Amino acid sequence: MSRTVVVTGSGSGIGRATAERLADAGDRVLGVDLHGAEIEADLGTPEGRAGAVAVVERYGAVDAVVCCAGVEAKGDVTVRVNYFGVVELLEGLQPLLGASDAPRAAVVASFAAVHPAFDGGIVDACLAGDEPGAIAACATALEAEPPRSVYASSKRALVRWVRRSAPTERWAGAGIPLNAVAPGVVATPMTQYRLDDPRRRDALLDVVPMPLHGPGEPEHVAALLAWLAGPENVLVTGQVVFVDGGADAVLRGEAGWT
Ligand code: NAI
Repeated sequence: MSRTVVVTGSGSGIGRATAERLADAGDRVLGVDLHGAEIEADLGTPEGRAGAVAVVERYGAVDAVVCCAGVEAKGDVTVRVNYFGVVELLEGLQPLLGASDAPRAAVVASFAAVHPAFDGGIVDACLAGDEPGAIAACATALEAEPPRSVYASSKRALVRWVRRSAPTERWAGAGIPLNAVAPGVVATPMTQYRLDDPRRRDALLDVVPMPLHGPGEPEHVAALLAWLAGPENVLVTGQVVFVDGGADAVLRGEAGWT
């Protein structure tokens, strides 16, 4: 049965691989990206997010939303796109998902969500829904010595939002599984410049050790996203599924299980 799936970041990397996989399987994909997608929107702004929701509403019911759009810049754009661009879009599309008989939501977080370089002020402001506060906290975090990572903060906040939201009446109560995937290093335009440089590649893999296969391809993440967003996923919700070649198992080991 053909489903209508919104995929953000559909123009490149993991989002593109996910959109292609779903379209190949017969789904109607509504891609959202800055340029060249079915829906052109800047998810880094409240107006862009509201505009994207308004366009999707014209299509009617939505069966799944997969949020892949993201950036890794040393500025507040990273928190505007990676956190608010995901959460506000999902909250805006939640009523449309409610009309599907198998609604699903999945977001792309990152292995960086468990990196200690996050900034608590950014995370707290995100979770409070305070975008101006989060933007202000980015400036402070970047001026700190050593600077805190806006990227790690945005992904940590996103993971915590998924954990706290998934079991609530609004998501689980409405029959909507809500999950995150946490990729390690994936060869996309976001990382290619590092993977192409042996010194940068080694430094990256020191931080994200991947004993299984090393850096992955976008399709490896897309396969997991497609399953999480598909009707076969009935009971998995509130999970952060690491698709990281073992990086989380290396760095966090048995923490939380003893
Ligand atoms: P990419 O750079 O290939 O694709 C990102 C897409 O998001 C692009 O098409 C871009 O135009 C879109 N985008 C950026 N800002 C936007 C905005 N303001 N509004 C709408 N669309 C916007 O990157 P990649 O690697 O495919 O990243 C996808 C997701 O995976 C991101 O959330 C990233 O943080 C995450 N991720 C990537 C990893 C990697 O190693 N590549 C590792 C862990 C997480």
